[in-house]
Amino acid sequence: MSPEVVAHRGASTLRPEHTLAAYELALRQGADGLECDVRLTKDGHLVCVHDRRIDRTSGGVGEVSAMTLDELRRHDFGSWHGGEPAEVLTLDALLGLAADHGKRLFVETKHPVRFGGLVERRLAEELGRHRVDAVMMSFSVFAVHRFKKLKPEVPTVLLYDRLWPRTKPHFADYAGPGVHLLRRHPDRGQGVYTWTVDDPADIALCRERGVRFVATNNPEETRGRLADN
Ligand code: G3P
Ligand code: CA
Repeated sequence: MSPEVVAHRGASTLRPEHTLAAYELALRQGADGLECDVRLTKDGHLVCVHDRRIDRTSGGVGEVSAMTLDELRRHDFGSWHGGEPAEVLTLDALLGLAADHGKRLFVETKHPVRFGGLVERRLAEELGRHRVDAVMMSFSVFAVHRFKKLKPEVPTVLLYDRLWPRTKPHFADYAGPGVHLLRRHPDRGQGVYTWTVDDPADIALCRERGVRFVATNNPEETRGRLADN
């Protein structure tokens, strides 16, 4: 079976990452699922921003968690990538979009230690307000464990970057190795979530190994290459 194509930060090769435009393009390109990172604002909202600071992906500077949502909304998250001006995207808005289109949303929680589990609690609350097929992900075993206790019915992915242990904890439904780990372990990959898969050789590898979900910055191209393999 061909892997499901998950738009990593939206169709982020062609549009500014984590903007509505990036996710809308991913949907038009036929992505099966959407991926986002979430961080906490000073006033407790979850917003879709990858870095700790907004400097790389907006016209502003500063830490996401030192700003309120209203303060973040004053910055443009689109023009840096050559796109239209764009507001910071809230998780609430993205959950609404995924629900409207019947797509699975993979939510990666950032800052696992700093707020003592508040990010996972806020995510669990938000998921309670939307009828959406969601998956929670983190590099932190503590964050995944914490979330699973709050929402056992929501699938989880434990992400791996430097090492990929043979066994995963029972509270993680899927292993989430980076594609560099897949290359390093020739006998593994069946049923996993793999990121970030843009290179043609990696796309072929994922298909061969029986990977379940591939996160890609370019959903249209990746889907086309999967079909060709
Ligand atoms: O989909 C998982 C992947 O996004 C993890 O890495 O740094 O892009 O959040 P990062
Ligand atoms: Ca991510």
